Amino acid sequence: MRTVVAVVGVLFVSCGGSSDAPPDEPTTTNGGEVTSSGVRAREPHEIPRAPGVWEEMSHDEKGRFMAEAVVPYMRELFREYDPEAYASFGCATCHGPDMSAREFAMPSTGLLALHPSGSDEQRAVVAEQPRMTRFMFNHVVPAMRTMLGQPELDPATGEGFSCYTCHPHAE
Ligand code: HEC
Ligand code: HEC
Repeated sequence: MRTVVAVVGVLFVSCGGSSDAPPDEPTTTNGGEVTSSGVRAREPHEIPRAPGVWEEMSHDEKGRFMAEAVVPYMRELFREYDPEAYASFGCATCHGPDMSAREFAMPSTGLLALHPSGSDEQRAVVAEQPRMTRFMFNHVVPAMRTMLGQPELDPATGEGFSCYTCHPHAE
């Protein structure tokens, strides 16, 4: 049984908000195989889903879903990517050290600020950290978007789930 799980953009990693993506990206299909970022591709049914419409859930309900489902799933994913770097993985890995004071608001102040896709700065990040950006693009983004039931980024409006849901904009 093979399922198309991940669409792998080898050179292009979109952070959203820009439509200057190369039109003919190479794609890779994989059915539960380890991808080029070293992480097993998940089947859609393996990814947990929020128990309600995300926007309508209370702060407490969101926090509970994070603790019960998001952290265990993402911890496993990040440890497949790098067991040593993510030996310790918790709320602060995403929400940052000031998470309590900021009441878990996203984007996080603890994550790298990203430049728009298509910019030289963003290209440099992809060139310097190809495996990390593939991991983010192919695993972290689709899993988190699915868990929260969010739409994909619409480049025309800038609405939808993207890197910038978690990472701050540079500048
Ligand atoms: C893998 C990254 C990740 C981890 C780990 C994580 N969160 Fe989240 N969290 C998010 C994202 C993404 C959102 C959604 C932001 C949005 O609504 O657009 C969020 C939202 C929340 C919200 C709602 C915030 C708001 O402004 O409505 C709470 C509360 C929360 N998280 C608590 C936690 C707690 C508690 C933990 C640890 C048990 C945790 N999170 C771990 C990514 C993460
Ligand atoms: C669900 C939240 C989330 C989303 C969405 C997300 N990231 Fe990340 N990103 C993280 C976390 C958590 C780390 C690890 C931070 C650490 O190691 O302390 C990270 C790390 C990174 C790093 C390494 C940063 C460094 O300090 O060297 C890069 C580069 C990166 N992400 C790029 C992206 C790109 C590009 C996208 C969109 C394709 C994206 N991320 C989407 C949560 C997210």
